[in-house]
Amino acid sequence: MIALFDRLARPLLRALDPEIAHGLALYALKLAPIPGAAPDDEKLRMQAFGLTFPNPVGLAAGFDKNAEVTDALFRLGFGFVEAGGVTPKPQPGNPRPRLFRLDADEAVINRFGFNSEGVEAVAKRLAVRGAPGIVGINIGANKDTVDRAADYVACIAALAPHADFLTVNISSPNTPGLRNLQQASALDDLLARVIEARERAAIGTKPRPLLLKIAPDLTLGDLDDVVGIARRRRIDGMIIGNTTLSRPALRESAKAKEQGGLSGRPLFALSTRMLAETYVRAEGAFPLIGVGGVDSGAAAFAKIKAGANLIQLYSGLIFRGVGLIGAIKKDLLDFLRIGRLDSLADAVGRDAASVTAEPWPA
Ligand SMILES: Cc1cc2nc3c(=O)[nH]c(=O)nc-3n(C[C@H](O)[C@H](O)[C@H](O)COP(=O)(O)O)c2cc1C
Repeated sequence: MIALFDRLARPLLRALDPEIAHGLALYALKLAPIPGAAPDDEKLRMQAFGLTFPNPVGLAAGFDKNAEVTDALFRLGFGFVEAGGVTPKPQPGNPRPRLFRLDADEAVINRFGFNSEGVEAVAKRLAVRGAPGIVGINIGANKDTVDRAADYVACIAALAPHADFLTVNISSPNTPGLRNLQQASALDDLLARVIEARERAAIGTKPRPLLLKIAPDLTLGDLDDVVGIARRRRIDGMIIGNTTLSRPALRESAKAKEQGGLSGRPLFALSTRMLAETYVRAEGAFPLIGVGGVDSGAAAFAKIKAGANLIQLYSGLIFRGVGLIGAIKKDLLDFLRIGRLDSLADAVGRDAASVTAEPWPA
């Protein structure tokens, strides 16, 4: 069924304007009778942030911005789904066109700028979701807001009851000034406030894990500060990372000039290096999620060895189709067998030191 979906739908979707194709993919996921994925091999199980993930392959934020298709996504075999980014108030995002597919590079550039139906609509939808499965919610700030930290607090208050974890996204490049929240004093203040909000939202229930999602474009000096503050404030984990403003060598040179964040295959080297750099600085204080250019089992395993407990992907789905999810899981089991490892947890961070010793990725 999944192979059939890929064979029929992908050529059509790739012939269309990327944003229309994305809308159609969401529509198809709502309507298609997708049978449930087979149960995962227990060797793929991963513990992180007090949660048990049936497999480590997650959907990255940005695909299901308004939590419309989480149930269908679990049926495709994801071990967890991150919905969002969600802003407190609804907002349209940037004008179109704002999504570009660089086919020859297997890359995407987007400048959506947090188009969101807002917390109220998303909370309502999640309150009635059917299938079990770990759903994280990626939260952000409205474009016109003055006190950005207050927006994250508002998102936590509204969405914590419906989320298995929450991601404080301070790394979207398409909201002017948002990435400044990664600077030390702003970050310390923000984390103090979001943690307090998380505790307040948890009266009578378990506090939700709070993760911090960073840009792959930080300097190593900035990263020292960010990880230090995240550790002091006892954040539950970090996601490395968001799209990049940098432009590694790209074949599609005209589209490469579009403003926005680059994702997909050309992001793999930089994001994996930043992941390993984060891992050596975190010293096991919290688990990491590795994101950026995962489009194969080998890429997923490289992320795990660079320090990720879990991985996420988005752009890889556009170029490889939904069959990629099962292919990664199968390959991960093969890598475990070849490496004579009992579980994926045994591989986490094995290569972090050697990755950080390599020349900086071009
Ligand atoms: C169209 C699009 C929209 C995205 N929206 C968000 C978002 O709202 N919040 C966020 O944290 N990341 C967002 N991302 C970034 C992804 O979650 C991910 O970090 C990035 O694309 C790198 O992974 P990939 O190479 O597998 O796509 C978006 C990415 C794309 C391509």
